[in-house]
Amino acid sequence: ERYNVAVVGATGAVGQKIIETLEKRDFPVGELRLLASARSAGQQVTFKGQTYTVQEAVPEAFEGIDFALFSAGGSVSEKLAPAAVERGAVVIDNTNAFRMLPEVPLVVPEVNPHKISEHRGIIANPNCSTIQMVVALKPLYDAYGIERIIVSTYQAVSGSGQAAIDELKEQTWKILNNEPIEPKVLPVKSLPRHHQIAFNAIPQIDVFEENGFSREEMKMINETRKILGDDKIQITTTCVRIPVFYGHSESVYIETEKSFDMEEARSLLASAPGVVVVDDLKEQEYPMAISAEGRFETFVGRIRRDLFHPRGLNMWVVSDNVLKGAAWNAVQIAEYMVKTR
Ligand code: A2P
Repeated sequence: ERYNVAVVGATGAVGQKIIETLEKRDFPVGELRLLASARSAGQQVTFKGQTYTVQEAVPEAFEGIDFALFSAGGSVSEKLAPAAVERGAVVIDNTNAFRMLPEVPLVVPEVNPHKISEHRGIIANPNCSTIQMVVALKPLYDAYGIERIIVSTYQAVSGSGQAAIDELKEQTWKILNNEPIEPKVLPVKSLPRHHQIAFNAIPQIDVFEENGFSREEMKMINETRKILGDDKIQITTTCVRIPVFYGHSESVYIETEKSFDMEEARSLLASAPGVVVVDDLKEQEYPMAISAEGRFETFVGRIRRDLFHPRGLNMWVVSDNVLKGAAWNAVQIAEYMVKTR
């Protein structure tokens, strides 16, 4: 059986990866509809050697669609996801628009696939930083429980879209050539003030909330609790943008409920779905953004017990933010639905 698939935001950083992932996974695509803003209607995109023309995303474009994969920003999802659902499509949404609604499953297939069947038309893909962290936490959570998480992120610019990728390239080139730069995209395009990202680290991802945390930091906190189904976990986060194109890195410290054996924890991680342990200090082997780029897995290394807290564990968690953090997680949800139909 084949399924008609719409990709909303097909010209964007994530949309492009969704198209590549559908091809790479040989997803049973019947008709493929590539949607974006009116600005890019008419643009040509190749899928499995065939040329497709990008169309404007309008409600009628979802007629006959089985799966609609959205990554064109929250406002587009708010406007068009209901139109897609009305026409019988299952929406898999990459934006922040519906994630925290109680009736919307927030799904990472390695962690809570059983939530998928509870959907009422919309399934939300979590935030990229959250996804890779919960993939790594899941085996430890199941075995030992988790009381507290302290996480600091080192996030790639691709999380902010194609314009941010272009901005890092251009700034780097200009600075090396002694030319003046004019930051316009990062940290948040819609805000009046922008900062240099090349050769810098910016401790702001998305806007700040009243409580002093950025919205990205609050997403990690709220979404992790929802995905693990546990509102007792204490989480604190600091999210930082760094001049890397693809791959988010995270320093994750947890305090477990039960005591753990270090070697057992390590082997639980090694056999967890979607996790690859890369941890050989003698060989200087550990996960890095450049090695995670283009891969679907989440890489975990630098696994070690804390020196002072007997139930404290540190690890370094890296994944390709546009793949597992967005495109692959979305396609993986669709694959799961096709398989379990
Ligand atoms: P377009 O290229 O036509 O602007 P990114 O995250 O890389 O910035 O990509 C955002 C994606 O969302 C692009 O494909 C972009 O299309 C699409 N998009 C932006 N605004 C709209 C809109 N109003 N309607 C449909 N798609 C949109």
